[in-house]
Amino acid sequence: MANQKKNKKIPPKRGTEQLKEFFIKKNYKIFYSDCIEGMKDKIPNNSIDLIIADPPYGIKGENLDTHYNRNEKNVLPGYREVLLKDYQLFSESWIGQCARVLRPGGTIFIISGFTNLHLVLNALHSSELKEVNHLIAKFKFGVFTKKKFVSSHYHVLFWCKPPERKRIFNTHCRYKGEWDYYRDLQDIENIDIRKHNPGKLKNKNQLNQEFIEKLILYTSNKGDILLDPFMGGLTTAKAALELGRCVLGFEINSNCKKLEKDLEKTKKKKTEPAKEPDPILLKKRIKMREQYKKTRNKYK
Ligand SMILES: C[S@@+](CC[C@H](N)C(=O)[O-])C[C@H]1O[C@@H](n2cnc3c(N)ncnc32)[C@H](O)[C@@H]1O
Repeated sequence: MANQKKNKKIPPKRGTEQLKEFFIKKNYKIFYSDCIEGMKDKIPNNSIDLIIADPPYGIKGENLDTHYNRNEKNVLPGYREVLLKDYQLFSESWIGQCARVLRPGGTIFIISGFTNLHLVLNALHSSELKEVNHLIAKFKFGVFTKKKFVSSHYHVLFWCKPPERKRIFNTHCRYKGEWDYYRDLQDIENIDIRKHNPGKLKNKNQLNQEFIEKLILYTSNKGDILLDPFMGGLTTAKAALELGRCVLGFEINSNCKKLEKDLEKTKKKKTEPAKEPDPILLKKRIKMREQYKKTRNKYK
């Protein structure tokens, strides 16, 4: 009986059906081309379950290395920035395409710095997408400043395509205990959002895989299709494949193709079961709660 259950084929979802040609040999496909034209040309309407997008920020990102203390020999050349004067139109164009290709109820995360956040928000508000949450994620390096505070956070915009009721949110995917899961859901994210990977070949501006995995676990299921329009160092692809999702991506810098070798070796990892609360801490919490109740009753 158990075996019967195991062998039962999960029927392909509509999105998978439409995009079947990309996933014949592998669970991923990356196009080294412009994502706006690429999405128009290759991705059907309503076919993607989850989008994670980390666009260039319109802040001369190609010169970012002047702020980093690292060996630039390991950084791939060819990072493509967008001029500030073009940033509004650029944001409207790629966000418009994302809105079209997302399935109803699909989720999109956009990572943005502060400087041009207003332009990204303008583009989102002029699309059919709806806001779910606005997260703040920290990073532990920053541009040195003398007369102002040091910038050390990104904005992570969590939006979805209506209707909301079709949106996936796996509330207990990482923690079971009520306090632990509550802390994991708080909108100030403590996982460092950027990763430097010393000694490894990398994109100029790479995300932390652990952070991406968290977003994927909460907002998608195994077999779902993830799209990343700005792949860079292929971090989202690696995270998605390890978690048993399929992934499509675009990256205009063809030098990033060198990183695909690593992707070919990616294996599905055993997904960690949600963490149970620590029994000692749980006992303490229950005791504390009882104490609160007594105090409250005293003042009633
Ligand atoms: C902030 S980085 C993304 C980093 C990536 N999340 C990672 O973990 O490595 C933005 C990337 O978008 C690429 N890019 C810029 N314009 C693009 C476009 N029109 N289409 C596709 N990729 C583009 C840049 O070359 C750069 O690698």
